[in-house]
Amino acid sequence: MQPQEVIRRKRDRRPLTTEEIRGFIAGATDGSVSEGQIGAFLMATWLNGMEQREITDLAIAMRDSGRVVDWSGSGLPRERIIDKHSSGGVGDEKITLIVVPLAAACGVIVPNLSGRGLDYCAGEHDMLDAVPGYDTTPSPERFTAAVRDVGGVIIGPTLDLAPADRKLFFVRDVTATVESVPLITGSIMSKKLAVSPTGLVICVGSGSGAYMATIEQARELATAMAEVGAGAGVSSVMLLTDLDCVLGTTVGNAVGVVETVDFLTGRERDPRVLELVLAIVAEMAVLAGVVADAAEGRALALARLEDGSGADRFGRMIAALGGPADFVEDPARHLPGAAVERAVLPSRAGFVAGMDAKEIGLALVALGGGRKRPDEVIDFGVGITHVAAVGAPVGPDAPLCVVKARTEAEWEAAAARIRAAVRVTDAAPAPLGPIVRETLHRSAAPA
Ligand code: URA
Repeated sequence: MQPQEVIRRKRDRRPLTTEEIRGFIAGATDGSVSEGQIGAFLMATWLNGMEQREITDLAIAMRDSGRVVDWSGSGLPRERIIDKHSSGGVGDEKITLIVVPLAAACGVIVPNLSGRGLDYCAGEHDMLDAVPGYDTTPSPERFTAAVRDVGGVIIGPTLDLAPADRKLFFVRDVTATVESVPLITGSIMSKKLAVSPTGLVICVGSGSGAYMATIEQARELATAMAEVGAGAGVSSVMLLTDLDCVLGTTVGNAVGVVETVDFLTGRERDPRVLELVLAIVAEMAVLAGVVADAAEGRALALARLEDGSGADRFGRMIAALGGPADFVEDPARHLPGAAVERAVLPSRAGFVAGMDAKEIGLALVALGGGRKRPDEVIDFGVGITHVAAVGAPVGPDAPLCVVKARTEAEWEAAAARIRAAVRVTDAAPAPLGPIVRETLHRSAAPA
């Protein structure tokens, strides 16, 4: 396989063979394909797309770039192993951190492989790297032991699980090649299939904060992922979500971890985050066979949230992978902060009518909380908190948000960008519709 030939074919809109895709991904993983060639391949794919057969080949080749977890012999009931993922959205990354321990508290087993920040969306892997001592790339033995002990654990792609995604991710992050059905499908499904679940719940967002601009594009992405899953024997539920504004109240790494703990412990719960979390955990519980239907799953998830068992599992997950044993009591004490922390006031009083959430995600990148180069070290302590929800009144005493920055100049730049991104009107806007706009069920293909 000559990498330039594969790139040329994709550039010229010709479908790639299974062998070409497998060869290119193997080369990207072992380093024989250069970062420049990976970038060119990604852009050609972004521009010209792939047919479903190529998408499936890409996802399977990326999965097979590493080990596929074999749970036999682990003592874990295979039918209860269910994973979740999100196709990305500004503020959405904390949902995995909430859902994994909560689903575990409901009896679902969740070995979760998540990604780093990607372009303007933060990522679970980075968020957990902000926690001192937490091992996001554990050995296979440590990962299995943590899943067995806690029931739900989040890690990143390791050197042996979906390593091709790790390679491609670094390049996609900084080459404007994220918003692509084949590339997102390959990235997500390679990680999901590497941990051998029997079912999957994936949130596929659309709107200004998501990689998919419209619900039609989200549906296309959901269908492509469900197809890959079904072919591999994995049933899926795709929740098409409305991500036209920041999800929850924070955007960033350490701040998102604090929002997670506040949510799980009940210190503060954003209503849209609650609505989404209950919907996801309910579907996971149904797939795991723990409950009969989504209504029962929702009630179970709410009960486990209220009785503190979700927070307890989160604390156990942190400790199992090397983080502080008392993390949940006071997470901010363990996390990095920022030198400048001040509220951003709107240029006029009124109500938040909407926002360009992507711009707010890009403000985080500019603050140093995301990457502009693959090898950039990010600052976990910067971030955006107290984001005013759509419909909230704003004015001299009611800020748009709080920005945590390294310097005054970076704070000023972020504040200006956020002010420009948020639409403020005199009259209160109509309330937002439900966060889950559609639910697509797909059973695994019969063996
Ligand atoms: N999450 C991933 O893991 N990959 C993507 O490409 C988008 C979201």
